[in-house]
Amino acid sequence: MIKILNKTLLIVCSLCVIINTGCKKENIEEIEAHVEFISNLNDSPTFSWKPFSGKKEVASQILVSDNIENIKKNVGNLWDTGKNDLNPVQTKYEGAQLQGGKRYFAKISLWDTEGLIASKTLKFFAPLKYPENWQAKWLTYSYNKHEPLPVFSKVFSCKSSDEIDFARLYVCAPGFYEAYLNGQKVGENVLDPGQTNYDDFAYYSVYDLDPTELKSQNSLGIMLGNGWFNQNQVWGNGLPYGQPVFICQLQIQYKNGEQELICSDTNWKWKSGPITYSNIYGGETYNANLEVDFSVAEMEKQDGWKKASIASYHPTKLFEQFAEPIKKMGHVDVKKIFDLGENKYIFDFGQNFTGWAQLQIQGDKGQEITMRFVEEIDSTGNIDPTSTGVNATKVIQTSKYICKGEGTEIWEPRFTYHGFRYAEVTGLNEKPSPDLLKGVVVYSAVPQIGNFTCSEENINKLHELALWTLKGNIQGIPTDCPHRERCGWTGDAHALAKSLLYNFDAQRFLTKYMLDMRSSARNEVRELYFGENFNDRSYIIKPNGIPTMIVPGKRTSGTASPDWGTAMAQLPWYIYLQYGDEQIIKEFYNDIKVWVEYIHAKNKDGIITHGLGDWCPPGGNKYIDCPVPISSSAFHILDVYILKSIAQILGNDKDFQHYSKMHKELKTSFNKHFYDSENHSYGTQTANALALDIDIVPESKKHQVAAAIVDNIHNEYDGFINTGIFGLGRIFKVLCENGFEDEAYRLLSKKDNRSFATMWNKFGATTLWEALPTDVNFDHKILQGRSHSHPMQSGFDSWFYSGIAGINISKEQPGFKKIIFKPYLTNHLSHASASYESKYGTIASSWKKEGESFHWEIEIPSGVEAQVYLPYKNEKAKISMNGEIVSDDKFTCTDKVARFKVLNDLSSGKYEFVVVNYVNIKESL
Ligand code: BGC
Repeated sequence: MIKILNKTLLIVCSLCVIINTGCKKENIEEIEAHVEFISNLNDSPTFSWKPFSGKKEVASQILVSDNIENIKKNVGNLWDTGKNDLNPVQTKYEGAQLQGGKRYFAKISLWDTEGLIASKTLKFFAPLKYPENWQAKWLTYSYNKHEPLPVFSKVFSCKSSDEIDFARLYVCAPGFYEAYLNGQKVGENVLDPGQTNYDDFAYYSVYDLDPTELKSQNSLGIMLGNGWFNQNQVWGNGLPYGQPVFICQLQIQYKNGEQELICSDTNWKWKSGPITYSNIYGGETYNANLEVDFSVAEMEKQDGWKKASIASYHPTKLFEQFAEPIKKMGHVDVKKIFDLGENKYIFDFGQNFTGWAQLQIQGDKGQEITMRFVEEIDSTGNIDPTSTGVNATKVIQTSKYICKGEGTEIWEPRFTYHGFRYAEVTGLNEKPSPDLLKGVVVYSAVPQIGNFTCSEENINKLHELALWTLKGNIQGIPTDCPHRERCGWTGDAHALAKSLLYNFDAQRFLTKYMLDMRSSARNEVRELYFGENFNDRSYIIKPNGIPTMIVPGKRTSGTASPDWGTAMAQLPWYIYLQYGDEQIIKEFYNDIKVWVEYIHAKNKDGIITHGLGDWCPPGGNKYIDCPVPISSSAFHILDVYILKSIAQILGNDKDFQHYSKMHKELKTSFNKHFYDSENHSYGTQTANALALDIDIVPESKKHQVAAAIVDNIHNEYDGFINTGIFGLGRIFKVLCENGFEDEAYRLLSKKDNRSFATMWNKFGATTLWEALPTDVNFDHKILQGRSHSHPMQSGFDSWFYSGIAGINISKEQPGFKKIIFKPYLTNHLSHASASYESKYGTIASSWKKEGESFHWEIEIPSGVEAQVYLPYKNEKAKISMNGEIVSDDKFTCTDKVARFKVLNDLSSGKYEFVVVNYVNIKESL
C-alpha cells in the first residue's frame, strides 16, 4: 500500500522551541492541537487544543501564515489573534481568505503567568472548492449493468522526487472507488466516500502522497464500484442516481514553486475490470483472471484500453470529506468450522459483526469459491438468511472469488459489505483450515474514546453487545442495521446518539449526518405520511425543511414522523452538550425551528397524535403499549425545550420567551391529558420514563411516577421491562434518580428467564437484536428472523458512563468544561470504572467497595472544574479526600433522599475519596 502522510496535519516543529518574547528559557512543550474544516459550511477552519496539563495557562495565541519562515519568526501574516483568552475547544479562523488547495501553517502557543509554556505548529491545506479549483473532468465509460465494472488509467511523468515539495491526490467517485499509484492502493479508506444525497452533494477525499512514491514515469489507476450511487437491485426501482463516474486531480507541488496537475480527462483510458458483479446488499463477484495490471509498462501496451468519456450526469456540488472515512478497523478469527458434507462448510466467527471475510487460498485456475454471509444457522446447520433480510432484499449477502491458480491468492471484496456471524463456503477442493477466512471489521474510523467496566457481568455483557452493534452501524451514516436496510433511520439515530457519543469521538460523524438530514429535508415533494400508527398511511406534499424518515438516500420511507424527526433537534443538542460545540446549535437553529413549528401546527390541545411509537420492545412491535400520542407529544416537548434552550444560549430573547411559554403550555396539556392522578402514572413504563426524563412530571410527583414504573414491571410484565427504544435509553436513569436503584440493579443483573441474560445465555446473542429476545416464551421464530444488529437498542449504554461510573455533562458548562461526578448503584456493585477522552483531556472515575467503605478515584483534566456527589449510607459516614477528612461544612448540600454529599469547585487533578460508613473513621483510614 502506498504510504500516506497524515491527512490533515503535520507537526512541523514541536519540542524545545525557544521563543524570544515573554518566554522562560526552558523547554517549551508540545500540545495536542487540531485544525479542521466542516467543508460544507464554510472555508474557515476551526482550531482546537487540549489545555496544557499541569500548568495554568493564562493566554493563548494563534498565528496563521502561508509561509513556514513567517511562523518560525512568529509572524502570522494571515491571522494573528494576539495573546488572548481563546477558546481551546473551538476557535474559528477569522483571518484573510484562504485559497483552496493551498498549504498553510498555524502556530498555537500557550502562556502561564511566567511565560511561554507550550506550542505547536500545524500544517494544513484549504479544501478545494468545486468547481473553481478543479481542472479535472468527470469521467465515465460505456456502461452496461450486466458487464464488469471498469478500471481507468493514466500514465504521467514527473520530476525527481527530491524536487517535490508535496503531492496530493483528490478523488471522488460517488459509487466508491479504489485509487492506485504505480499499482499500489492509495490510502486506507474503503467504501469511500461516505453516503450522501448525491443529487445534492458528494464528498471527495484527499490523500497526501509520499513524494518518494512518484517516479519519472507513473501510472494512476481508478477502479469503480456501484456503491449507493448505482444501487440498482434492492428495495425497488428508481434508487440509482446514475452509472459509475469519477473525478480526480493529482497536485504535484515542486520546491521551485512550479505546480503540475494530473487531471481526469479524455486522455484517460478504461477497460473492464475483475469485478463482474457488485451490489452493496447482494455482494461482489471477483474474477482474478480479469485482474488489471496497473504498472506503467502494462498500460503503455494499450492492450484493450478504450478512451474514457465525459460523464453527463454527476454530482454538481463537491466538498472535502471532513468526517472520518470508513476503514478496516479490526479482525475476528474463525472459531469453528462445521462440515455439512458435499463440500459445504460453515465458518463460525463466534461474533456478529460488520465487514467482510478475507479469503486466503491456493486454488486452481477458474475455481470458484462462494461465500454466503448470515447471522443465524438453522436446526440443520445450514445458513438461515432471514435475519439478514432476505425476505425484504431478495438477496443473500454473497462474495465470490474466481481463482487465478497462481500460488496463494488473498482477496477481499471492495465495494460491498456484510453483517454476519457465519459464512457458508462452497467450491473448495479440500477440507479447509480456519485460516481460509479472516473476519475484517469495517466501520467509520471514529476513535473509541470511552471505556467502561464494572463488577456485574450482565452489565459488562450489555456494554459489549452495544459496542459491537454500534461499530457495525457507523458506516458513513448511523445505519439501522448492516444488512437488511442499511439506512439512516432518523428515529434510530436519536435513540443511539448519546451512547455513540460516550463511546466514540463522533462529533464529525454526527455533524455530517445533520448535514444529510438538512439535505434530505431540502425539497418540497410528495412523500408518504405516517398517521396515528405505522399502518395508517397516506401521501402528502412534504414541505421544504422537513426531513424524511430515512436520511440520506432515495429510499426515504416518507415524511419524518414526530418521534423519528425529533433527531433534527436532539442530535445538535447532544453534540453541543458533549463537545461544547456552539457552532452546531447556531448552524441548525433555524432547521430545528422549522421542524418544531411544523409539528406544533399539528397539535390538538397541545397533543401530537401521529407517529410510529415506542419501537420494538422485547418480543417485537405487537408488545408496544405506550400510546403514540404520549411518545410523540413527549418528543415535541423535548424539541421545544431544546429550541428554547438554544435560543437562550444564542441570546435570542424573543424566541426564548416564545418557546418557553410554548414549552410550559405543552407540559400542562400533557399532564392534563395523560396523568392519572389516582395512580400517579402516565400508564406504561415508557410513558413514565419519557415523562420523567423529559421533565414533564411535577417535582412532587416524580417518586410516585417512578414507583408506577416498578408496579407496571411487576404487575403487567412478570418482573421485567417492556420498553421499546424510547424507554430503554431512559428507564435505568429515571429509576435511579427517583429512588429505585434496587429495581434498576435487579433488572440489569437478572439472570433467569425474562432478563437481558436470556439474550446471550439462550439465544447466543453477541449484538443487540432488533427486538431483544429476553424471554424464551416469545415467538422466537419471528425474533430470530429479524435483524440481529440494531443499534437503536443501545440507548442504555450512555447511562453506564453517566449513571454508574458517574461521569456527567453540565448543561451550564457543556463539553465537560464542568464535570458532574454522580454515581449510582454504589450499594449494589463492588466496583465500576470508566474513562472518557474529552476535548480537555482524560476524565476518569473508578470506584470500589471494601467492606463498609467506598473508595473512589477521579481524574479532572486541565482547565476543567468538577462537582462531586459522594454517596453515603449513613449520617455517621465520614468522608476523606486525598487522605484528609472533609469537614461537614465543606459540603454545599446533602441530598438525603439519594444520600449524596456534594463538593463543589474541584479543580483539575487526581482525587481519591474514601467514604467510611458506620465505623470509626480514625481506625479505618
Ligand atoms: C428499521 C428500523 C426503523 C423502522 C421504522 C425498520 O424496518 O429497521 O430500525 O426505525 O423500520 O419504521
